[in-house]
Amino acid sequence: MNSRVFRSVARSLDGQPLGAELSSGEGSKPRIGVLTSGGDCAGLNAAVRAIVHRAVSTYQWDVLGIEQSTHGLMSSPPKVRQLRLDDVDGILTAGGTILGTANYGSPFAYPQPDGTVKDMTGTILENYHQLGLSALIGIGGDGSLSILRKLANQGNIPFVGIPKTIDNDVGVTERAIGFSTAVNIATEAVDRLHFTAASHSRVIILEVMGRDAGHIAISAGIAGGADVILIPEIPYNLEKIAAKIHQNQTLGKNYSLVVVAEAVRNENNEAVVASSGQGQNRLGGIGQVLAERINDSTGADTRVIVLGHLQRGGTPSPFDRLTASAFGVAAVDLIAQERFDRMVTWQDREVKDVALADAIQDYAAVDPSGTLVKTARGLGICLGD
Ligand code: F6P
Repeated sequence: MNSRVFRSVARSLDGQPLGAELSSGEGSKPRIGVLTSGGDCAGLNAAVRAIVHRAVSTYQWDVLGIEQSTHGLMSSPPKVRQLRLDDVDGILTAGGTILGTANYGSPFAYPQPDGTVKDMTGTILENYHQLGLSALIGIGGDGSLSILRKLANQGNIPFVGIPKTIDNDVGVTERAIGFSTAVNIATEAVDRLHFTAASHSRVIILEVMGRDAGHIAISAGIAGGADVILIPEIPYNLEKIAAKIHQNQTLGKNYSLVVVAEAVRNENNEAVVASSGQGQNRLGGIGQVLAERINDSTGADTRVIVLGHLQRGGTPSPFDRLTASAFGVAAVDLIAQERFDRMVTWQDREVKDVALADAIQDYAAVDPSGTLVKTARGLGICLGD
């Protein structure tokens, strides 16, 4: 990694580094880039704001925002803009990302209008260097961070990663930006569904996101008081679900709420997918599949709600704002300390950092013998097994 560019002048009064300066003697301020990559989520802007505050106010660096992930560096001229303190004023509470993002189009095989693919690495690296960037911060999930790491390694770019994903499946961190807000939204949906389900004596199935992991489903299901929670980590048996619905009826509860993660498979153990505009398969539809089967086996009037992208948008929860702010500050500090190829993490009640290579390899599904699964079982929630 290119650690030549930054020389920390970490003279410290209170343990904090005071700044960094270019070692190349160019006389200009160090300039770092920031981009958001992968699916949007609540809290991305809070992270961008924290990066700008720390870089500009503490270190007197310039910050360039790169638009639409690596796509911004593939364009000629590159799509970038300087981010000053004024530019991030008021974005702490805003959903989405002011930089835009993209979760398709690998830069190593980028789709062309004629249907072929092209390796855009050369263009991206040339633009990165022409912009005079000294380091890059990428805010993304494990997929985006692996792509960015590969680019950084190929181009000798000093790189630091910040984990974000509503799926919360990055193993080395207890928190990723966006998860808390997604759980809040899914929990509120369960809360609301209680009333309609009870009023109409229905079974209502709420399908939530989470990609291959069931973190949102198990968290929102417990917090919202669901009767059944289905996650991909625990295979289900339809008869067990029907039995729980019957048990509710026997006990005088005229409705049942089911929370299902999008990656739960059908009874033939096949993923249920809906294709996306970019020709990729994306998960979706297991709620409807289950509704038909539950209706067949119980006769219950059954409805399905697919929560979808509502889980990603809107005002970030305080927890996500805090996580994003702490991660943003810590990522800039890593650059000041010339500690590259790292990812910031939340562990043991504080921000730490780990080797990026370890971070992107350590996938975290829901632990079938972990606390949340035990809690759900302890509450009498049916997990389908
Ligand atoms: O990874 C975040 C996520 O929201 C997943 O939970 C979901 O499966 C996927 O992205 C949806 O992607 P898209 O926005 O392309 O539909």
